[in-house]
Amino acid sequence: SMTEEEMADRVRTVKKQLGNKLFIPGHHYQKDEVIQFADTTGDSLQLAQQSALNREAEYIVFCGVHFMAETADMLTEAHQKVILPDMRAGCSMADMADIHQTKNAWERLQHLFGDTILPLTYVNSTAAIKAFCGKNGGATVTSSNAEKMLDWAFTQKERILFLPDQHLGRNTAFTLGIPLSRMAVWDPEKQQLEYEGDLDEVKVILWKGHCSVHEKFTVENIQFLRQTQPDMNIIVHPECTHEVVQLSDMAGSTHYIIQAIQKAPAGSSWAIGTEMNLVNRLKKDNPDKTIISLNPNMCPCLTMNRIDLPHLTYSLEKIAEAKPGNIITVDNETTEYAVKALQRMLERA
Ligand code: 13P
Ligand code: SF4
Repeated sequence: SMTEEEMADRVRTVKKQLGNKLFIPGHHYQKDEVIQFADTTGDSLQLAQQSALNREAEYIVFCGVHFMAETADMLTEAHQKVILPDMRAGCSMADMADIHQTKNAWERLQHLFGDTILPLTYVNSTAAIKAFCGKNGGATVTSSNAEKMLDWAFTQKERILFLPDQHLGRNTAFTLGIPLSRMAVWDPEKQQLEYEGDLDEVKVILWKGHCSVHEKFTVENIQFLRQTQPDMNIIVHPECTHEVVQLSDMAGSTHYIIQAIQKAPAGSSWAIGTEMNLVNRLKKDNPDKTIISLNPNMCPCLTMNRIDLPHLTYSLEKIAEAKPGNIITVDNETTEYAVKALQRMLERA
């Protein structure tokens, strides 16, 4: 097997050989050993936008997770192949909502609320769920535009079903002034609505899903820091729980966190509640600031981390041999409706 140096050389050679025929997008949560070879880096919104713009690359080697590669496939042309270097790079949150559960929930909710609901889905979801939203007049959102999209959604319908992240949904609705008392939760396992009160009052129905990485940042982590290091600024991703977001100083998407740290004055101290690779990179890129993880145990996204230098090298080798593997394809009907949901977002983002 190859050494790290040999793999890096191989990647450089194939990249040079293929030129503009190859495009490597990398999500900010990817490992440094992968990010060093990315042609562009971004959060999920930026990567979706860049995929939609690229008409040139024959091979898009997506360094991120499965739902992002699906989105890239749907937003690019038929001749462009999207490759995921490791098929096991999924997202545990996206796995918390499947299309059958969604259709089932929809039927029950229509029964309870009639035709007053618009479905919105976080991009961290399967293509089938995006298509379901597209078909029913709804849209996708990312953590960078969730407020704008939820605001828009209320111009369409009285109530919103928000999939699959209850925390992003709750945090966003709360920011728009909707009280917690008007948010219900749909439990896909029990197939029931959790709500105490008059159903007429419900404004948002939150799907009971979460991100296993961001749920690891806790109220106790914050209380400990407030006591031991009161000068520390706390900034978290809105996939963290509502309590954690409320107790933090700032909350926002991956892109928002990066900007906040870059703009922060030299000498300032930051505890960040997001994925480990990004926290470590921010620490390295901002040596004039003190940067720590809000949870001292560090929180890697295990599926994002499945993409590593050996998998990237192998993917590129196969392309160089004209035998590309791990091609992600979404069928035409799903694509047609999912793109509607994505377009409703991209034209407002
Ligand atoms: P963003 O890239 O939209 O900040 O989302 C974070 C995330 O968890 C990606 O899976
Ligand atoms: Fe999914 Fe969370 Fe990992 Fe993002 S960080 S890919 S939401 S499990």
